Amino acid sequence: MTNVRDFAAFKAERRKISIVTAYDAWSAHLVERSKVDAILIGDSAAMVMHGHRTTVPATVSLMALHTAAVARATTDTFLIADMPFLSYRQGVRPAMRAVGTLLKNGAHAVKLEGVDGNERVIRQIVESGVPLMGHIGMTPQSVHQFGGFRVQGRRSEDADRILREAHELERLGCFSIVLECIPAELGGRITSELTIPTIGIGAGPCTDGQVLVLQDLWGVGSEHAPRFVRRYLDGDAVLTDALNRYNDDVKGGRFPDSTESYS
Ligand code: KIV
Repeated sequence: MTNVRDFAAFKAERRKISIVTAYDAWSAHLVERSKVDAILIGDSAAMVMHGHRTTVPATVSLMALHTAAVARATTDTFLIADMPFLSYRQGVRPAMRAVGTLLKNGAHAVKLEGVDGNERVIRQIVESGVPLMGHIGMTPQSVHQFGGFRVQGRRSEDADRILREAHELERLGCFSIVLECIPAELGGRITSELTIPTIGIGAGPCTDGQVLVLQDLWGVGSEHAPRFVRRYLDGDAVLTDALNRYNDDVKGGRFPDSTESYS
């Protein structure tokens, strides 16, 4: 299984890291059979699996449910679970309870968004021996503050702040940092200045690795993918075609046939 030490080694060896999200057992099983390095049980589950418009409605129990499903289907894949909105903003104790819940449900590491105001929690998580991934740039839990899912760090003062946050997360002991929706040049600059690996999503080609939402990569479920998504399959078309062929076979009396029936 890829682990935290491998992440550091990959950066040193300039070997790129691939991560995808998964929220359920069957897709996690498929990811485990692939060559992808790790799974993020992202709070994007609130949007992708539950139809919310943002990640804000995700809760610790929702994340625990999805983490447990992914963990049951995998034995050899590094699992990073998202700390949901506000679960780490109400003091260190509730935050550590949330971390414990996610780890007891099978996560090997946790991820949280932002830096300022989170320093004590971050220190406590890291000092407790829990691998922590940071997440800066367009942090979706702050979507209402940003006024939408918008690229961050285009203005030089914002770029300077994001760069400072990256250094602070490294100093606080994160093993890796997700950089979301920032200019490619800034992604490259942060990556070259840090000793820990950066994982990009809409942060250009120079980060140490990439993460994508699995359903975006498979082309299922959403018609309007952001610019940074590359679709490797037209999953919606493939799956709809299968449903329509099944429907036609049922209605045409071709399903089931004798090999699909009992004597
Ligand atoms: O929840 C999620 O899917 C994420 C990725 C976008 C990095 O945090």
